[in-house]
Amino acid sequence: MKRAPFILLTFVAAAPVGAQSLLYRAPNMGGVWVPDGGVVQFNFLHRFYVSPAPSHTVVNYPSFTLAAGFGHQIALGGRFATKSLVGTGAGAETTNETEIYVRWGAIGAEGKDGFAVALTPAYNFLAKSVDGELAVDWTRGALTLQGAVRGISRALGTPEKQQMAVAGGVVARLTRYIAVTADLGSFVAPVEQRAAWSAAINFLIPGSPHTFSLQASNATSVSIQGASVGYAPTGSNEIIYGFEFTIPLHLKRFSPWFHGSPKPVALGAVGATVAAEVDMAAVKYGKDTVTISVGQAVRWTNRDPVEHTVTFDRTEPGSPVIPPNACTFHRFDKAGTYTYHCTPHPFMTGVVVVK
Ligand code: CU
Repeated sequence: MKRAPFILLTFVAAAPVGAQSLLYRAPNMGGVWVPDGGVVQFNFLHRFYVSPAPSHTVVNYPSFTLAAGFGHQIALGGRFATKSLVGTGAGAETTNETEIYVRWGAIGAEGKDGFAVALTPAYNFLAKSVDGELAVDWTRGALTLQGAVRGISRALGTPEKQQMAVAGGVVARLTRYIAVTADLGSFVAPVEQRAAWSAAINFLIPGSPHTFSLQASNATSVSIQGASVGYAPTGSNEIIYGFEFTIPLHLKRFSPWFHGSPKPVALGAVGATVAAEVDMAAVKYGKDTVTISVGQAVRWTNRDPVEHTVTFDRTEPGSPVIPPNACTFHRFDKAGTYTYHCTPHPFMTGVVVVK
């Protein structure tokens, strides 16, 4: 177990996508996100209900998601909700809901234009149920449409039985930093429970890898089962409000704990002409696209006070973490179009065209 972080680190270079961003996901949708290899994603969702006067009692519904990327578009994750009302049905003894899941990003990636498809088999310990979700996202420019089909082997809150659920969501990005979203999810017939809904305004916190959302919903957890059932407090039509904060933990950031300070590393640049320079400043790559010839190299220099990476989306090995004032090189030996991003800041993207 002790070696696990180091094994994770070895996948970092080949990782194709970034961290989870609420600018591409409605609150109750599982989505198609898979963290980069070596990235542990921690999403903290907190919903609460304020009961009417005179008591104004606050009931809290915290829900945590933790998922680690293993490269190859595979993540292992878990969700834990301490007051899931999924647990109020027949036979439920606790409201602590734990779900573990594996997610395979089969096609595309969260936030990339086009279709993305992910398969998420899961096990819900509270319901003792084998669950699963097939999620499809379609992104074009400022718009993302989300759909999901869910299978549940043993639905809580009903007599032991299988259930199917469907869900859909929409995300509209108003600016680079702000999105509005809504979703609806429900068991397919026979519908004995109300549908789950949510609406939110989501923010990317500038200069950080974090996203934040303010939301309203009637669901108390976002497991596969929890996101399929609307449980407004004790069966009323009341709304519960909440927020979510997403925290990608880039394990390479912790490498100084084990290996001393990271050093800038030159990758394959020996003997190659540096034909293009890209500065990283203000949490952006200075040039969106650079064009070079086969056999030439690009140099990226970090002018920011924070660490960045140059992580290629599909093809080449990526850079190590580039500390402030350090640079990295990469020589391109094959013609093509190489898209890349920064793993800690997945909204930083760039392209190298090799002719
Ligand atoms: Cu960065």
